[in-house]
Amino acid sequence: MQVALVYNLKKEETEFAESNSQPSSQNISSDVSTQVQVSPNDDTYAEWDTIETITAVRDALALFHSVEMIEADENAFHKLQSLRPDIVFNIAEGRYGVSREAHIPAMLEFLNIPYTGSDALTLATCLDKARTKEILSYHSIPTSKFFVIHSLDELQKISEHHHSFPLMVKPLYEGSSKGIFNTSFVQTQEELFTQIEKILSSYNEPALVEKFLPGKEFTVALLGNGNTTQVLPIVEIKFDSLPDGVNPIYSFEAKWIWDQAKNPLNIFECPAKISPALQISIEKLCLNTYNTLRCKDWSRIDVRLDEHGIPHIIEINPLPGILPNPEENSCYPKAARVAGIQYNEMINRVLNAACKRYGLNQ
Ligand SMILES: Nc1ncnc2c1ncn2[C@@H]1O[C@H](COP(=O)(O)OP(=O)(O)OP(=O)(O)O)[C@@H](O)[C@H]1O
Ligand SMILES: [Mg+2]
Repeated sequence: MQVALVYNLKKEETEFAESNSQPSSQNISSDVSTQVQVSPNDDTYAEWDTIETITAVRDALALFHSVEMIEADENAFHKLQSLRPDIVFNIAEGRYGVSREAHIPAMLEFLNIPYTGSDALTLATCLDKARTKEILSYHSIPTSKFFVIHSLDELQKISEHHHSFPLMVKPLYEGSSKGIFNTSFVQTQEELFTQIEKILSSYNEPALVEKFLPGKEFTVALLGNGNTTQVLPIVEIKFDSLPDGVNPIYSFEAKWIWDQAKNPLNIFECPAKISPALQISIEKLCLNTYNTLRCKDWSRIDVRLDEHGIPHIIEINPLPGILPNPEENSCYPKAARVAGIQYNEMINRVLNAACKRYGLNQ
């Protein structure tokens, strides 16, 4: 089959120079408009993929198919229109706006080209964490209580909300822990105001304020569709691996600053050492959530226990992070490896799940 890999490339200062000189990076666009320079503390492009990830996905697909590379930039629509691949492997996180993850799937639907992963509706919904929580609540799926602050004016009304501390303050529609720092865990009204103001001004988007779930945290990778959906081994996030004195959250610092390939945090335990009853209840919760949000082919779902030990959904990632290097902490590939599924097989299983849905012969 001809597979087009559609991606957004994160350019890092050193990587960019190196990537242009490596044969493995050939065919990967070096369009000037995407040559974004980022410093390690800047979360602007945290959601986009590195050249290593994009190359690894391409190489995995190329084991069985011919692969074309398409960067998800302003030329993507015309490239897809003229190429008309048999299927798109979509890992594009998108560029602008609250529907950005939906843009490529929407174009593909318009062009009637099959693609991997969830559709535009699911991607746009899951990026908006409040919308997602509203849907979960309608279906009686546990998720922590929350409110959304859209503007500084609304801050005045905040005392009307009956909230008790601690709370989490997050940007309404981001991923990869963008905007979620150690300070996003707030214990006083003053901290709450400061964090809300920070999100409104730095991210120019509404702030989502949630009741803090104090129990253990897990993340769950799912693969497949319908009654053959596989729940991969549950990953526990071990907060005792974080530096002393920091808050027990999987923050931007924890994902991208304190945890380095050369000096990794021992933050994942997979399979999580939990009772069979808790394992079953988390698996059921995640499958129910996956089907309720109509996720397709793959997703990763974050779960945390409340003060009574009841698992709650934090959020759903229908485009999960997939760093290829086992030395780097990346939950989805980690869970797959523990299930005996290596990276190349993992990528091809996602592709095959999509092909099956579309009735495509490979
Ligand atoms: N209500 C909550 N209670 C407790 N901890 C929370 C809550 N919301 C978020 N967190 C903590 O903050 C982390 C990041 O939050 P969240 O998963 O919403 O962000 P994200 O940027 O979408 O993550 P990802 O990197 O998985 O895309 C969680 O993994 C968890 O540790
Ligand atoms: Mg998360």
